[in-house]
Amino acid sequence: MKNLLVTGGAGFIGSNFVRYMLDIYPDYHVIVYDKLTYAGNLDNLLDVKDDPRYGFVHGDICDAAKVEAVVQEHDIDAVVNFAADTHVDRSLMEPGSFIQTDVYGTYVLLEVARKFGLERVHQVSTDEVYGQVLEGSSLETDTLVTRSPYSASKAGGDLMCYAYFVSFGVPVTITRGSNNIGPFQYPEKVVPLFITNAIDDIPLPLYGDGRQQRDYQYVLDHCQGIDVVLHRGTPGQTYNLGTGVETENIVMARLILDLLGKPYSLIQHITDRPGHDRRYSLNCDKIGALGWRSRHSFEEALEKTVRWYVDNEWWWRKIKTGEYREYYKRQYAGREIK
Ligand code: NAD
Ligand code: TYD
Repeated sequence: MKNLLVTGGAGFIGSNFVRYMLDIYPDYHVIVYDKLTYAGNLDNLLDVKDDPRYGFVHGDICDAAKVEAVVQEHDIDAVVNFAADTHVDRSLMEPGSFIQTDVYGTYVLLEVARKFGLERVHQVSTDEVYGQVLEGSSLETDTLVTRSPYSASKAGGDLMCYAYFVSFGVPVTITRGSNNIGPFQYPEKVVPLFITNAIDDIPLPLYGDGRQQRDYQYVLDHCQGIDVVLHRGTPGQTYNLGTGVETENIVMARLILDLLGKPYSLIQHITDRPGHDRRYSLNCDKIGALGWRSRHSFEEALEKTVRWYVDNEWWWRKIKTGEYREYYKRQYAGREIK
């Protein structure tokens, strides 16, 4: 496994994964294949762009002919699929592109893998496919009870992967990661949204009572877990990747304000997200048996993340214009709870 196709590699986690893999494996070649939607950004890959082991192709995973051409031209051994529409709130506004990319696009990659006999398709999935977990923690064998168009689309992709393993012997693996935080995350997701708003003294829009819980993990821990499964995971198997520690959103918001020396009065409770999943929680014993565990505590991960956004205004200030402003207005205008 020397030539990797990283689909969606210009996004948040994909770009961190590319950097991580080029660092760890000196003899690997990595081709990023990305549609460059609003969330894809070549600034995320600036520091690897001159590496002779790296290449970029602009394309859609739904375009089978183009994916096939890239696989042939670069003699690809394995695909790691990060490409997806990823934001729950946008999936509530416009679900169609989520179904197209996250389900149909995954099918296209699986067909190409089948046709060319690739060594592996690794599907990067999410804890959200289990639906909300009010008590206990999700096991990989749990039923998928999805509640948003985003999570339903991701579950569709996962199930298609498994179907291709069973029906056609395509060697797939799946990881279901919890919420990632770290450098290069588009500031629609809650942590970079709150950090960048707080830096500018703009209110932090907290949904409902803010008591919803998420397992926030540092993005490089997640990348390392994907690497472990890619190389040592068993085809046909799914692995949860998380820290096992859940944090309430209001606690996360206050910590960000503490780290930036800003007042809690910036927190503004707003009308809740429809169908908002109250809690996610992963049981990670299965990946633990392969020797992986998350290295950063929530506090360390958040501190590193806040520091990165403070030090890298060049990256996020230009994003928070144009399309972003339109989205922000559409998503947040008139939702504040008096
Ligand atoms: P992101 O939104 O930052 O990046 C997605 C990337 O996919 C972008 O570069 C975008 O241009 C690309 N893309 C979208 N549609 C495409 C298409 N049709 N063809 C080719 N490229 C396309 O997302 P992210 O946060 O980096 O998430 C990456 C993957 O990890 C997703 O599959 C997501 O479901 C999963 N995941 C994310 C988290 C999280 O906390 N962010 C947690 C667990 C799993
Ligand atoms: P988000 O980053 O959208 O990820 P998820 O896919 O887990 O929903 O949101 C994380 C949590 O933060 C989730 O409980 C919703 C909440 N949230 C807010 O309170 N305000 C916001 O503006 C956003 C975007 C999210």
